[in-house]
Amino acid sequence: MTPADVSSIVRDHVRSALLGEATGHDWWHVFRVTGLAAKISETEGGDPLRVELTALLHDLFDEKFYDGDPGEALSACIDQLGIREAFPDEVWNGIIFDICHLGFKGGFDQTPLSLEGQIVQDADRLDAMGAIGIARAFAYGGAKGRELYNPDEGIVTVTTAAEYRTGSRHTVNHFYEKLLLLRDRMNTNAAKTLADQRHQFMEEYLAEFFAEWESAV
Ligand code: ADP
Ligand code: NI
Repeated sequence: MTPADVSSIVRDHVRSALLGEATGHDWWHVFRVTGLAAKISETEGGDPLRVELTALLHDLFDEKFYDGDPGEALSACIDQLGIREAFPDEVWNGIIFDICHLGFKGGFDQTPLSLEGQIVQDADRLDAMGAIGIARAFAYGGAKGRELYNPDEGIVTVTTAAEYRTGSRHTVNHFYEKLLLLRDRMNTNAAKTLADQRHQFMEEYLAEFFAEWESAV
């Protein structure tokens, strides 16, 4: 089995598993993260196939919608797809470890990742920022039945991982609990440059959002 075979088996599986998902973890999110990670890797290094596989598999068993152990589920998936033999155990274990720790989770998981894991983490976070990130946040909030904004609740600071995941704060709060924190958490220089532009766009967006809100009261 060639590396190209492994990559196309994984790509086909993930595409059919996530196509049409509506909370922002759809196939096209994975597609963008895989592309961004490949671009970042061109300047930052890392093994391109490992970057690609980590990106393709990173949201297959996300803790937000999958109740079991994501590491075990990924390992079972590698067996089911018949690709285990393509790499030594330590490579698969490294990929699984990175995927289990690259999510934001309120910013409370700061486990060190491999270079490939750091690159995919940057790409995943970039896709939560800017125009696409804004669209994903409101899509996620809508799917969860949340309000766009509620001035009576104001902006709430989240202090634990459990608190980050629970509750149903309005979606504008998500900018303050996550999206505006991402720029300063990029691992690679290539991602920092892209993050600056997306961060600035979110600030302009929020200024306009609040200006429109104020004009109505
Ligand atoms: P995490 O779930 O750890 O924040 P993800 O990358 O899995 O990170 O999040 C997936 C997408 O859903 C991102 O675009 C993220 O900003 C969005 N999202 C996650 N939680 C919320 C929330 N409470 N409100 C709005 N969007 C959210
Ligand atoms: Ni993701």
